[in-house]
Amino acid sequence: MSSSVQACIEAKFVTKSYGKTVALDDVSFSIPCGERYALLGPNGAGKSTTLKLLVGLLKPDTGTIRISGYEPFSSDAKSILGYLPEDATPYRTLSVRENLEYIAALRGVKDVREATERFLDDLSLREYERAKVGKLSRGNMQKLAIALALIHKPRIVLLDEPLNYLDIPTQERVFKMLKSLDSTQIVSTHIMSIATRLTEKVIMISRGRIVWNGTIDTLKSLEQGEEPIESVVARLMTNAG
Ligand SMILES: Nc1ncnc2c1ncn2[C@@H]1O[C@H](COP(=O)(O)OP(=O)(O)OP(=O)(O)O)[C@@H](O)[C@H]1O
Ligand SMILES: [Mg+2]
Repeated sequence: MSSSVQACIEAKFVTKSYGKTVALDDVSFSIPCGERYALLGPNGAGKSTTLKLLVGLLKPDTGTIRISGYEPFSSDAKSILGYLPEDATPYRTLSVRENLEYIAALRGVKDVREATERFLDDLSLREYERAKVGKLSRGNMQKLAIALALIHKPRIVLLDEPLNYLDIPTQERVFKMLKSLDSTQIVSTHIMSIATRLTEKVIMISRGRIVWNGTIDTLKSLEQGEEPIESVVARLMTNAG
């Protein structure tokens, strides 16, 4: 990467443990502004931990993280970040519309009404706009959580398994929406086919270590014979020990 390209997300030598469990071990990567990356790895690999560190919900034991040059827990970083947590739960006692309006207002969105209407339509939530979140299906709750993560047009978008619970037409809508955003993105997933739909680049993580960082095209070039790309991924993960 040329030194003239500014990194919007940077992790250097990051280590994070929970008690005796080492969740991340000496992780370094740099995402240039405007690029979209998938963070791919099996269950327990450290994807959610990585995103929580980037958004400032956890602090690294060692190493540094910068979001457009800011400390992740600073208000400067928070104002430009949009984050979808794993198993996100919006305010259950508010309606879908109230959640959108409330978060838009808190996030300083200028035209709260316009943003609310747009997300109600784009994610097919209009028929549920008056429903309390506690009564929504899990998929519709996930659609709302995605809207809440994006409503303030964040410059840096971090989404933890955004397609969980979503039906196929809604997944297609979310792919389209994410591609249309003018932002730097990291989207975690454990499903390679989702990574290939979302991004051109992948950081692959296994047991807390980065085992691959590069383009999906390069990954495809490692295919042997007729094997699917999933086999290449499995090999890289296994070889990593
Ligand atoms: N709050 C916690 N307390 C103790 N250990 C934790 C905690 N959160 C995560 N871990 C451990 O850290 C490691 C990484 O977990 P993490 O949730 O980051 O993985 P993940 O890649 O997001 O997995 P998944 O695909 O299942 O969501 C795992 O070994 C997990 O058991
Ligand atoms: Mg996770």
